Amino acid sequence: VPVDPFDLVVFGATGDLARRKLIPALYHRMHDGQAPEGARIVGAARADLDADGYRRMADAALTEFVAPADLDAASREIFLKAIDYVPVDIGGDDGWTALGEALPEHGSSRPRAFYLSLAPRFFGPAAARVKSEGLAGAEGRIVVEKPFGHDLGSARALNAALAGAFDEHHVYRIDHYLGKETVQNLMALRFANALFEPLWNNHHIDHVQITVAESVGVEGRGPYYDGVGAMRDMVQNHLLQLLCLIAMEPPAHFEPDAVRDEKVKVLRALAPLSSAENVVRGQYAGAGASASYAEDAQSPDSRTESYIALKAEVANWRWSGVPFYLRTGKRLRGRMSEIAVAFKPAPHSIFPGGGKVGQNVLAIRLQPDEGITLGMTIKDPGPGGLRLAPAVLDMTFAEAMRGAPSLRMPDAYERLVMDVIRGDQTLFMRGDECEAAWSWVDPIIAAWEERGDRPAAYDPGSSGPDDALMLLHRDGRRWREIAP
Ligand code: BG6
Repeated sequence: VPVDPFDLVVFGATGDLARRKLIPALYHRMHDGQAPEGARIVGAARADLDADGYRRMADAALTEFVAPADLDAASREIFLKAIDYVPVDIGGDDGWTALGEALPEHGSSRPRAFYLSLAPRFFGPAAARVKSEGLAGAEGRIVVEKPFGHDLGSARALNAALAGAFDEHHVYRIDHYLGKETVQNLMALRFANALFEPLWNNHHIDHVQITVAESVGVEGRGPYYDGVGAMRDMVQNHLLQLLCLIAMEPPAHFEPDAVRDEKVKVLRALAPLSSAENVVRGQYAGAGASASYAEDAQSPDSRTESYIALKAEVANWRWSGVPFYLRTGKRLRGRMSEIAVAFKPAPHSIFPGGGKVGQNVLAIRLQPDEGITLGMTIKDPGPGGLRLAPAVLDMTFAEAMRGAPSLRMPDAYERLVMDVIRGDQTLFMRGDECEAAWSWVDPIIAAWEERGDRPAAYDPGSSGPDDALMLLHRDGRRWREIAP
C-alpha cells in the first residue's frame, strides 16, 4: 500500500546503519512504488556536508548495498532528489535552526519521523531537543535502535528520557527481527491456520528450539561487542521476541497493543533461570588463519560470551513443562536461524518389528532459504513389508509464491521504516516489553558474574561448546543440525 508523502529525518545519517540499511531500504520502497515522489529524507549528522555531498554518499551506498538488478537510473535519480542534508551537532546547539528551516511548515498532514541512528546516550538528549525545537509537532514520531539499554536500570532510564519528550504511541523501538518476512509469517502460520492451534500447548508439544547461528565472528565490532556479549546482543531482544511470537496467546486483533500485550505476558511468565546448569556460555577459539574471539575483540583475557545456549520455561498453563531451548553464537558451522517445534511422539506404535514412530517437528526457517518443513514418518516405499522411514514436507516460501509479483525477500528495514510512516507500531517493542525482557535477563547475567564463570572455548566452524550438547542430552533430546 503506498503511503502519503512524508518527511523522515535521519540523525546519524553518515553512519553505518544509515548507509547499509536505511538508504537501501528507502530506495527499494520508492523503486517499488510505495514511497511517493514527494517524500523527503533529511540526513542530519555532524559532518560538514551540503545536500549534494550527502547525495553522493547515498549514491555510493546504493551502489554498494543494492543488487545491480534492482538499480535503475530513473529510480535512482528520483530517490536522490528526495534527499537533503543539514549538519547538526546532536549534543550542542549548531544546526538545529537550519534543520527546522529544512522541514516544511507544520500543519500539513505529512507524517514526520525522526530516526535516531545514534549511540543510546544520545537518545534522550536528541528526543528532548527535537521536541523543544518544536520540530515534531503533535504527531511526530521518534525511532530508536538497539541496544535499548544495557540492563533493566539503563533501559528504564532510556524509557523515562524518551517519555519526557514523546508519548509512547509515538515511540518506535526497532528490533529488526520483527521486520523479517518469515518472522511475520510466524503470526500468519499460527493465526491464519486452524490446524496448529489445538496442538499448540504442553499436551502435544515436547519442546521448542530456537537457533540463531552465525558463521561470522565479531570482526570490526569487537571492542563494542566485548562490553555486551551474546546474551545482551541477541537473546534479550531477537531470541526473546521469537519466543514471544511462538508462545503468546492469540491476540484478539492484529493491532499494536493487542499483539504487544500478549508478548509482554509471555515475558512476564518466563521462569527465573536460577540453575547454572541451564545456561551455557562459549567463546570461539582461534584455528589456523581464523582469529580467536579474544583477538577479534582485542581483549586477551575477555570473559564475554560469543555463544550462549539456555533452557527457558514459560511458566503458565499452556506451556508449563515444555522447555524452550535457545542458542545463538558467532563463528559457528553455518548461518542458520530457525525455530523448531517438536511434537510429542505418538503414544503407541502399532507396527511390528520395532517400527519406530518418529517425532513430528515443525521447523520454521527464518534465514537463509526461508520456509517451513514438517518432519513426518511415512512408509518406506517398496514391497518388502511395512517399514517406516522419516520424510520431510518442505515448503520454501519463494517457491510457494512463484508467480507472485515480487519474489525478492524485502529487508526487515523496508517494512519497519514504512510502518513508522504509516504509524503502525505492531512490529515495534513497547517500553514495558523491553523492561520485562531485561527483568528476566539481568539476574542470569548477575549470577554468572557472581560465580566468576568463564565461557567454554569452542572451535570456530563447530556447533558450539560441548556443554551445549549436554544441555539437551541430559533431557534425552538433541539439537537440530546447523547446516554448513
Ligand atoms: C544484530 C546484532 O542485532 O543482529 C549482531 O547486534 C548480529 O551481532 C545481527 O550479527 C544478526 O542479524 P541478522 O539479520 O544478520 O540475522
